[in-house]
Amino acid sequence: MSLLQRAELAPADPILGLTEAYNKDERTDKVNLGVGVYLDEDGKLPLMAAVREAQQRYLAKGLAHGYLPIDGLPAYREAVRDLAFGTEVDSSRIVTVEALGGTGALRIGADMLRQLAEESTVLVSDPSWENHRALFTRAGFTVDSYRYYDQDARGVDFDGTLASLRAAEPGTVVVLHACCHNPTGYDLTDEQWDRVVDLIAERELFPFIDMAYQGFGAGLEQDGAVVAKFVAKGLSFLLSTSYSKNFGLYGQRAGALHAVCADADEAARLLSQLKAIVRTNYSNPPAFGAHVVATILADDALRAQWADELEHMRVRIATLREQLVAGIEAAGVTDMGFIAQQRGMFSYSGLTTQQMVRLRDEYGIYGTNAGRLCVAALNDGNLAHVAAAIAAVRA
Ligand code: LMR
Repeated sequence: MSLLQRAELAPADPILGLTEAYNKDERTDKVNLGVGVYLDEDGKLPLMAAVREAQQRYLAKGLAHGYLPIDGLPAYREAVRDLAFGTEVDSSRIVTVEALGGTGALRIGADMLRQLAEESTVLVSDPSWENHRALFTRAGFTVDSYRYYDQDARGVDFDGTLASLRAAEPGTVVVLHACCHNPTGYDLTDEQWDRVVDLIAERELFPFIDMAYQGFGAGLEQDGAVVAKFVAKGLSFLLSTSYSKNFGLYGQRAGALHAVCADADEAARLLSQLKAIVRTNYSNPPAFGAHVVATILADDALRAQWADELEHMRVRIATLREQLVAGIEAAGVTDMGFIAQQRGMFSYSGLTTQQMVRLRDEYGIYGTNAGRLCVAALNDGNLAHVAAAIAAVRA
């Protein structure tokens, strides 16, 4: 009897499993609001002009496909480090390793923390990106949650967040969303971040910041300012970044893990450990996406073009939110104006699992069972259908 016979059927992934089901759906008016992917006015995944130009430049060189170093393309590592931290920071104490998207960065970070702090618990927000809990659990941690979302007030339960963090043991790993909280779309204010940073320092908690949506919240610099607060406080922490969304490089798996250390010596030790983790998992990261990002960030004109395109996406999503609210109101449901207040790609709609299943079964509209809808996939062609369907399942 083969060992393989012991495998049990695992449930479909709560997010990517929706795409699988959507792809099989034969209805022509189906809409995938499950996964966080930005689609343009025509419902297509856009190839950003800056990305097109950078990839043409790279391909024109006619390079063969060699291995990258274990920790990734040096020019990419520097460029994304500067994007996340700015150029003023003491870079000798920051380690940046290229990773397989934001998820890959979280995973190598989780594996490293597990090696260093086997006894620590990991706290994720309640609710959080579905994969946070799964990923840290698979890395061997006990995962618990801190209070975050206030369903009645439609916003952040900030007193709850503070109370949870205050109650956490020193050394607890706290996973924080830098911006565009996934799934709720509610971020902390500037002042609230200051208080969280102070409390983390006071309680000696260990921050692991996840920044998958830089540029989709308040803007590129504003979103990155959260990270600067942790640096300014002198904290050591991990930061995962993704260029899937803000460069539209989803399939290239361009991400990075940054470790902000006490000093250069600690940074060197961290880097050696991260390299061992990468080497034993996938040896070294892919090159193409890294070259594209590095090319754009190193060229003033391309970088400006990219930032403009990103800003267009950010502003357009805000408009889509307003249009969705108007559409739902026109269909008779008047208490969902909060959708326009949320930020980033997602709206936490407040719809129940049963209503989400109805959206899927009766209308071909796919969102997560927890009620998350990707508003960044709306357009003139599907918005009325989505608004009417939401109103219908709420009726
Ligand atoms: C999402 O939350 O939809 C995205 O981060 C994509 C993913 O990997 O789940």
